[in-house]
Amino acid sequence: MAERQKLYEGKAKIIYATNDPDVLISYFKDDATAFNAQKRGQIADKGIVNCKVATHLFQLLESQGVATHWIETPSEREMRVRAVKIIPLEVVVRNLAAGSLCKQTGLALGTVIAPPLVEFYYKDDALGDPLLTRDRIRIMDIADEAQINELIRLAEEINTILQTFFQRCQITLVDFKLEFGLDQANNILLADEISPDTCRLWDQAKSDQADRVLDKDRFRQDLGQVAEAYQEVLQRILAQFNRK
Ligand code: TMP
Repeated sequence: MAERQKLYEGKAKIIYATNDPDVLISYFKDDATAFNAQKRGQIADKGIVNCKVATHLFQLLESQGVATHWIETPSEREMRVRAVKIIPLEVVVRNLAAGSLCKQTGLALGTVIAPPLVEFYYKDDALGDPLLTRDRIRIMDIADEAQINELIRLAEEINTILQTFFQRCQITLVDFKLEFGLDQANNILLADEISPDTCRLWDQAKSDQADRVLDKDRFRQDLGQVAEAYQEVLQRILAQFNRK
């Protein structure tokens, strides 16, 4: 295989250059981190599962008119993606209260949030990914008013599509995190990944709180059966795609 230039190594993925400056390779690792990398580990075959899950979800979104960076998935841990300049925001959509929202507000776990909440966090590990406001995003020159509005619109649209899809998988989409990037023409594309690493997913067949978790909270909270939960999500997604 030709030597590839590593452009960036993150906690869960490595980005490589290709011969085409408009195309990058996103390589999915098994490494898992939580709490701003204070907790580290590996989840067996996570890279393969997340690459497959993200591939299917990007295809689903593309089929419904959402522009993503995904081009193709040539091997089990690699995606070819459009090169974008990542907007340094974690765009979080919440349908039910969990995680940091419960911790910071006292809302009970599972409280329904209707309409869904769209929040922005600054993608900066040194600062601990703080919650931002619209005005902070504007004065930090991260995005202008029109772009902020577009990010909110896209996040809501993606939430509607994913909620409907996961409902068919008998999974509740509790919350999730998105990242977006700008292409050469300044179009906003959905980037990064959507996977059990970046979503909270609850099995509708289970009522016990620890049992129903099918996402990275199993790793964060040491609930066990982490790789098995990721595989379960993949199998349910594949079953829906094979049904079509
Ligand atoms: P939070 O409740 O910890 O703020 O997380 C909200 C959602 O964002 C949850 O689905 C997990 C996801 N997330 C990431 O993908 N990356 C992160 O670094 C964090 C903090 C959360």
